[in-house]
Order: sequence, then structure tokens, then C-alpha cells
Amino acid sequence: MNVAVVDIWKIDLSGVTLAEDQVNLLSNAERTRAERFRFDAERLRYIASHVAVRCILAKYADRNAGCLQFREGANGKPELAESSLQHNLAHSGDLALLAVSAGEPVGIDLEKRRWVPDAMDIAERMFSHRECQIIGAAAKPHRSDLFLRCWTAKEGVLKTTGKGLSGAPKSFDVSAVLHGGEALGPWPDDPDRVWVVRGLDLGADYFGAVGRGGNLGRIEFHSWE
Ligand SMILES: CC(C)(COP(=O)(O)OP(=O)(O)OC[C@H]1O[C@@H](n2cnc3c(N)ncnc32)[C@H](O)[C@@H]1OP(=O)(O)O)[C@@H](O)C(=O)NCCC(=O)NCCS
Repeated sequence: MNVAVVDIWKIDLSGVTLAEDQVNLLSNAERTRAERFRFDAERLRYIASHVAVRCILAKYADRNAGCLQFREGANGKPELAESSLQHNLAHSGDLALLAVSAGEPVGIDLEKRRWVPDAMDIAERMFSHRECQIIGAAAKPHRSDLFLRCWTAKEGVLKTTGKGLSGAPKSFDVSAVLHGGEALGPWPDDPDRVWVVRGLDLGADYFGAVGRGGNLGRIEFHSWE
């Protein structure tokens, strides 16, 4: 895979049906997790997205989808075992996104567009001073969208570094993304390394962002049917 490219796969989870041979691609651990979902629709979306992840990554790795093995990195970030291929999954509503890159870690986040009534309160707890200023300065009807753009960019960083919930979101700034640019910051515990994050254009219904270690390069979208 070209190291200058990040591939983003759009996985449509609306109205999915699954054949038994597809479900058989999942590991025991994935099946156990699938069984824990209380609602059938959530279970189906989980299974369909994980089947898609396996089928997509299998093509890059030139392996059988059912034979792919995943391990958990720090804070539970799933990684493909015995491969330098990097990936990250996000799902929201009826859409999942899978980012794939060679070498450097990637992180992706996705949120379905919705009204967030307490956006400013959450921002003050989780976002940097500059991010709060930008959201607070916007007219009230626009704050929810700006909040979700900022949230997905921050999650894109936390999912790139793999820090997840332990990543102290207030301690770094992605406000450049709110101006349509790329944000960049130091990798946790490694001042010689950087992360970069960029917002994604996903149409009117979703907000998303993708991050990567080093630089992002070109982003290419693909659809998984
Ligand atoms: C997994 C996590 C990193 C993101 O969860 P989320 O936004 O609810 O869900 P997403 O759909 O974006 O991502 C889920 C996928 O991320 C992957 N993932 C799990 N742990 C991860 C980690 N530490 N780093 C990166 N990716 C991770 C998994 O593939 C997971 O998919 P699965 O549950 O189907 O296996 C979450 O545990 C977390 O820590 N969120 C941070 C919350 C927060 O404080 N955000 C502040 C933003 S200001």
C-alpha cells in the first residue's frame, strides 16, 4: 500500500442482511461480543461492520478474511497481528468508516448529525480554551454542528494515538479543523513525533475526522457494498 495515502472505506449499515458464511468469518471473541448486544439491530450492525473490516483488510494483506488475527494495543486499540498495516473503525447510525494506512497509526471518528442541547457545557469540560471560544462565538443554531466537528477531530486524535478515554482531551487543540484546516500536535510521551488530524466531508448527515501519525497525505474514499 502507498504510504502517502489513507484509504477510507464507507460501510453502509442500513438494511443489512447477513449470510451464515459471512458470520463464520468472525472470531470467537467477536461472536461473544456480538451476543452481548441487547437489540438485534445493534448486533447486526456490529457483525456487518466487523465482517466488512475483515473482508477489506484481507484484500490489503492478501490473506483469508477468516484467518486474520487481531490483538489489542494499549487501551484496547485493535491492531492487525503480524502486519504493518494500520486500521481504525468508527460507527454511528447506519454508517461505519474504516481507515487503512501503511506504517503510521490511523484513527477515525464519526458522529451522526444531531442537535446537542448541552454542547457548550460538554465543550467547557472536554475542549481547549480556543475550541470553546470558537464554538461560543458562533450563533446558537450553529454551535451543535461545530461541537460535533470538534468532537470528531478530538476523537480522531485519541483514536490515532490509541489513548481513547485516557487521553485528556482538554490538553490538546484541534481548532484548526474548525477553520477547515489540519491540526497537529505532539504524540503523547514522544515529543519527536506528531499526530495530524483533518475533518472529513461526509455530506449533510454525518461529521467525521481522520488522524494519523506523522502526516496524512492523500485521502481516498471507497465504498464497501
Ligand atoms: C473506543 C473509543 C476510543 C471510541 O469510542 P466511540 O467513539 O464510542 O466509538 P467509535 O465508533 O468511534 O469507535 C469504536 C471502535 O474503535 C476501535 N477502538 C477500540 N478501542 C480503541 C482505542 N483505544 N483507540 C482507537 N480505536 C479503538 C474499535 O474498533 C471499536 O469498534 P468495535 O467496538 O466495533 O470493536 C472510546 O472507548 C473512547 O475512549 N472514547 C473517548 C471518549 C472521550 O472522552 N472523548 C472525548 C472527545 S473530546
